[in-house]
Order: sequence, then C-alpha cells, then structure tokens
Amino acid sequence: MRTRVAIIGAGPAGLLLSQLLHDRGIDAVLLEARDREYCEHRQRAGMLEQATVDVLREAGAADRLDREGLVHHGIHLRYAGRDRHIDFPSRTGGRSVTVYGQTEIVKDLIAKRVAQGARMYFDAPVTAIEGIDGDAPRVRFLRDGVEEVLECDLVAGCDGFHGVSRGAIPADVLKTYERVHPFAWLGILADVAPSTDDLIYAHSERGFALHSMRSRAVSRLYLQVDPDADLADWPDERIWAELRERLALPGWTLDEGPIRERSITPMRSFVAEPMSFGRLFLAGDAAHIVPPTGAKGLNLAVADVRVLARACGEFFLAGSRAGLDGYSDACLRRVWRAEQFSSWMTTLLHARVDASGFDRRCQEAELAYVADSSAAMDSLAENYVGYTWAD
Ligand code: APR
Ligand code: PHB
Repeated sequence: MRTRVAIIGAGPAGLLLSQLLHDRGIDAVLLEARDREYCEHRQRAGMLEQATVDVLREAGAADRLDREGLVHHGIHLRYAGRDRHIDFPSRTGGRSVTVYGQTEIVKDLIAKRVAQGARMYFDAPVTAIEGIDGDAPRVRFLRDGVEEVLECDLVAGCDGFHGVSRGAIPADVLKTYERVHPFAWLGILADVAPSTDDLIYAHSERGFALHSMRSRAVSRLYLQVDPDADLADWPDERIWAELRERLALPGWTLDEGPIRERSITPMRSFVAEPMSFGRLFLAGDAAHIVPPTGAKGLNLAVADVRVLARACGEFFLAGSRAGLDGYSDACLRRVWRAEQFSSWMTTLLHARVDASGFDRRCQEAELAYVADSSAAMDSLAENYVGYTWAD
C-alpha cells in the first residue's frame, strides 16, 4: 500500500488532517487502532475557540456544529458565595466560544470522510514506524491480525498520548516536560437542562466543580476528586450532593437529573519537543497534554493540524519544505501559551489538601483579584478565547 501522508489515529487531529489534505488534493491513508463505534463514543471536553470553529467550517465539517453548537459569551467564576461573570466579547474585540462535544466533531468528520470514500481503516493498529530519517518512511500495521506495510512520504502521528508515534523520535532528540497535577476530574453527563447560561467554574474548600453542558437538555458536570478515586465510591446521590455544595450560591439551585455516563480522568501537563523529526510530524495529544481546566486540548489539536495541512500543501504542491521545517516551532509557541494558561487556571481553582496556610491565603487573594480587576479578567478572557499573536 502506498500514499503520500500516513495518518495514525482517528481522533479529532487525525480526522481533521485527513479532511484538510483531501481538500488540497493530497492523498492520505488513515490508520486507527480501535473500531469506529469506540471512536465515536469517547466522551471528551467540548469547548471550541472561534479559530477552531473557523477551521471546521473551512473543512466543510461544521453544518451540525452551526445548527447545534451553543455560543457562549463568557464564563462565571464562582467562589466564597460570589459569582463574577466574565464577559468575553467586550474584553476580546468581539470573540466568543462555542460548546459542542468533541464526540460530535469526531462523528461529523468520520461521516464526511466515509461519504468521500476516504481510505480510512479502523481496527488497524500501527505497530512500527520506520525510515523517518530518510525520504521513504514505512508504517507497519495490523489488519485482521496480519501485518501490512504502508509506504509514504510523510507520517502524521495523531495517535494521542498513548500512541506509538512519539516513541519513534530518537530518545537523544526528544525532550519531554511534565507536571502531574494531584487531582482528577469525575465527569458526568446528565439528562437535565443546564442550571446556567454560561459555564460555571467554581472553587471551594471542598474542591473544584465545573458546570458545563452539551445541549439545552443535557448537562455536563465535573468534580475535582483524588487521582486514585474510584467510581464505585461515587453513587449518584454523593455526586449531586458534592456538586450542590461546591457550586452553592445564595438564590441559585442546581437542577438534577438521571446520570447517563460517568468517568474519572487524571490531570496532566505534558509537552514533547520537537514535535517533528525527519518525516514524522506529531499533532494533538501525541505531542502535548493540558489539564482540562482551560479547555484547550481539542483547540491545540485543531491548531496543529491546520499548520500541518498548510505545510503539506507547500511541500507537495509547491515543492517547499519550509512549512514542514517550521512546523514544530510554530506549534510549540501556541502549545506553551496554553500550557501556562491551563496550569494557572488549574492552580487557581483547585483545592490542595497539602497547601500551607500561606498558600491558601495567596490563592484566595488571587481569586479575589481575578474577580475584581478588569486587567485580570481581560487576561483570562484573552487566553480562554485563544490568544493570537500580532505577527
Ligand atoms: N495505531 C493506530 N491508532 C492509534 C494507535 C496506534 N498504535 N495508538 C493510538 N491510536 C488512536 C487512538 O485509538 C485514538 O483514536 O489514536 C487516536 C488518538 O485520538 P485522541 O486521543 O482523541 O487524540 P487527538 O486526535 O490528538 O485529540 C486531542 O483529545 O484528549 C483529548 O483533550 C484532548 O481534545 C483533545 C483531543
Ligand atoms: C466540557 O464541556 O466538557 C468542558 C468545558 C470546559 C472545560 C472543560 C470541559 O474547561
């Protein structure tokens, strides 16, 4: 089998890249380890920056997003019985964000690629990537348990944090940076209308809570829990009681409904540098992870593949390697901005059992500053909607 670009992974990064390459007339084959059903039902975050919505529109994959996505003009910062609404458009030159589940984006992209007859193989785990330091890389994968080889010009490693691509970069070249946060998030999907217009990010001494949503009838809520927490210890009543406590505000009530799904996700900050080596290019979670507090994971993945698709266009259609050579640096600038913002939001809002009295007072002072200072709110808003550079 032969193609120009071998794409590994059918998450948002790999699927969107496959669409953007198709739109440029560049042949690609996508290999995914899991089955389609699994990929279409993984629950993930769902907050899209305007730039992310724009790329999905450009890819012709935003029809349902435009119909069903919920545009949000700000967030609520809630703590100590106070609620501060931080308005985005007035602080960012008119920008907003859109809530639309990542799962839905994956379904939309798969449906579109299937309709276009894409060469996309599920149940096809990649086992090895070879020859990325030459000009004829080869990707080995399994189909029906039998090994096959895909020959290509470029490899796009879009296989998430646990994929094989990152490991193909020589250990003496790859540098990784990591912070494991001492929390996890317990997330639920509940069949109940959201009790809020905009998302609520709440800090309390009991821990962080987030009230998000998926539609006018489905709420998505999260609780900070211990990294080793067990779902078995979290029956519905305990989840709702904890959400009520942490989101409490005089005069406001949290509506409850049947819990449809629940999961616990660890929180990690991670970056691998460089994001490319020879003919291999990492995109999305394969190269970087952010804690979900800043809602940046999906947006970073989309931004990476936008840069990569353009660089592939220059390479195959104009014969220039400049875009590919600049890929890693171009992405890492955005990645580190998002890493810093996500870590900052996480530290600001979560409760640490091991915090000293001094650290707790500093955290309270910072929360009060963010909720009181227009400059601080401008900064939060600018980062939340997606910081863009002037040059
Ligand atoms: N061969 C083929 N596919 C693989 C392999 C392999 N060896 N290893 C992993 N994969 C697949 C996974 O099964 C998964 O479907 O790669 C895909 C990676 O998808 P995601 O984890 O969704 O990663 P990405 O596309 O980068 O999306 C990033 O996901 O975790 C969130 O917050 C994050 O929103 C961000 C988004
Ligand atoms: C979500 O809706 O899943 C969501 C929203 C904002 C976040 C994280 C998750 O910061």
